[in-house]
Amino acid sequence: MNSNRITIVGAGNVGATTAHIAASRKLGDIVLIDIVKGLAEGKALDMAQAGPVQGYSVQITGTTDWSKTEGSNIVVITSGLARKPGMSRDDLLIKNVQIVKEVSERIAKYCPDSIVIVVSNPLDAMVYTAAKVTGFAKSRIMGMAGVLDAARFSYFIAGQLGVKAEDVQSILMGGHGDDMVPLPRFTTVSGTPITELLDVETISRLVERTRKGGIEVVDLLGSSAYYAPAAGVVKMAEAIISDTKAIMPCCAYCEKEYGAGGYFVGVPVVLGKNGVEKVVELKLNPDERAEFDRSLGHVKELSAKVDKLL
Ligand code: LAC
Repeated sequence: MNSNRITIVGAGNVGATTAHIAASRKLGDIVLIDIVKGLAEGKALDMAQAGPVQGYSVQITGTTDWSKTEGSNIVVITSGLARKPGMSRDDLLIKNVQIVKEVSERIAKYCPDSIVIVVSNPLDAMVYTAAKVTGFAKSRIMGMAGVLDAARFSYFIAGQLGVKAEDVQSILMGGHGDDMVPLPRFTTVSGTPITELLDVETISRLVERTRKGGIEVVDLLGSSAYYAPAAGVVKMAEAIISDTKAIMPCCAYCEKEYGAGGYFVGVPVVLGKNGVEKVVELKLNPDERAEFDRSLGHVKELSAKVDKLL
């Protein structure tokens, strides 16, 4: 038994990949839960049997039974429909609100002390849904999108400059949609802002590709990305479990921060054992601020739709 217990709700591509990366990194015991009988059980057994080869022996449980999730300190929500070609994340809202609502009710009952990381789309609205339904302290509810979007931005920048992607530190804000706000002024290669390394046109092209990063994968694959999203979740879970106080962009509750007025939206945060321990307020210039406000406006509209549906 490991003292950390991570429940992953949904044994589809994102859920199962998250479980596997988390197990590989020995983050804690894993509970993979799904409503489809056999799916989580089968994947968990397969993953557990990779342990002797890969060198991990954390417990991996696949189940349809919520009582097995009791005692989890982190719960990841991946349930819901994923995008198909031609769909926007917003097209998923009506169906996924109901799914995330049901899952959140169970989390409140079985894992009342957990920290919740939401991955289901449309991300910001689903985080809002989970917060409303669980009633958990806002610092214990967050969404994974910024780490993924920043990773995509870093990957594209690295390719353009011929540097290692892990040497690029990207930051971006706003909702997880086509109006997300990559921040070139705050994005560096080992400390040097990319605005010193690339011209304006090239940066705009990379920003645009980042904004469309999800759909680029959907169009190739016929369904949504999962390796990079899962890696993003594990990075957040690791910062929480190890109480690292790492700063990364997450969908987090902002009241007076950025003048958001009580919404969940992508911002840089400090992650630690208490969840979102602080929202980092960057001094945005007027253009960045306008882009953020536009994106926040969209998040507010989707959150209002959630209010009508709950
Ligand atoms: C993406 C999905 C996870 O951006 O929203 O690939």
